[in-house]
Amino acid sequence: MKDLAWGARRIPIHEAKMLLEWVLGVESLIIADEPTHAQRRRYRLAVKARSQGFPLHHITGECWFRGERLTVGPGVFIPRPETEMLVEYAFEETGIHTAVDLCTGSGAIARCLALSGLKVDAVELSARALRYAQENLHDTSVRLVRGDALEFEGHYDMVVSNPPYVVERVAGDVLFDPEMALYGGGEDGMVFPRGLVTRARALLGPAGVLLMEHAESQADNLVDFAFSTGFSHATTLTDLAGRPRFLRAVV
Ligand SMILES: C[S@@+](CC[C@H](N)C(=O)[O-])C[C@H]1O[C@@H](n2cnc3c(N)ncnc32)[C@H](O)[C@@H]1O
Repeated sequence: MKDLAWGARRIPIHEAKMLLEWVLGVESLIIADEPTHAQRRRYRLAVKARSQGFPLHHITGECWFRGERLTVGPGVFIPRPETEMLVEYAFEETGIHTAVDLCTGSGAIARCLALSGLKVDAVELSARALRYAQENLHDTSVRLVRGDALEFEGHYDMVVSNPPYVVERVAGDVLFDPEMALYGGGEDGMVFPRGLVTRARALLGPAGVLLMEHAESQADNLVDFAFSTGFSHATTLTDLAGRPRFLRAVV
């Protein structure tokens, strides 16, 4: 299709294809009709925005997380593929009935947990992020709470979180994510993650489980910290590339 070729000369072909599918409202170009004049104009504007560095998901206003379509945009952290693995690990836990997603952002994790049948609360501090979470969770049973995750009270079988943990300022699409979603604080980015481990310990009862995403460099330190906070078992889980990216701690 000549429109795809036009886009692929300006941005990577898989992105040009995604934008064309989005504009045409189809899952595959194989089943698509020729774009109308208006669709072609919209596509060209989208390709131009992408070539100027705007994140793909801000242009489309949507992203996919474990097969779920989420509304996203400026003001909310765009869920990343590695966090799908965190949810996968949550599904492997047994005997869990209640869970809280601390720092829910778009509500990606909470939505998946609730759809699996768990009773789920989700906590987010940012008012802008909360608006996306409301939209993404409106058709679920999730109780969405605006508040500080580090002061949140309750009692749960499982705490799941992808908190701010980034160590230093980085370039690329993260520049479009809200700052409060990214930086963990301190030289090692660990101020917030440590606070979250401490809070999780208070929220969990006997045999309760914490699953938390973190940076590779933080793995050993967080395991030690979890033990010092009163968890009886703590270990690091890996992502699909084998990198140490998630803390699993059990009370
Ligand atoms: C890395 S993002 C993760 C969002 C979502 N869980 C995901 O995986 O896509 C971290 C989120 O924590 C939120 N946040 C930062 N500080 C917070 C706090 N003290 N209490 C609650 N949420 C907070 C940010 O607004 C952001 O939405």
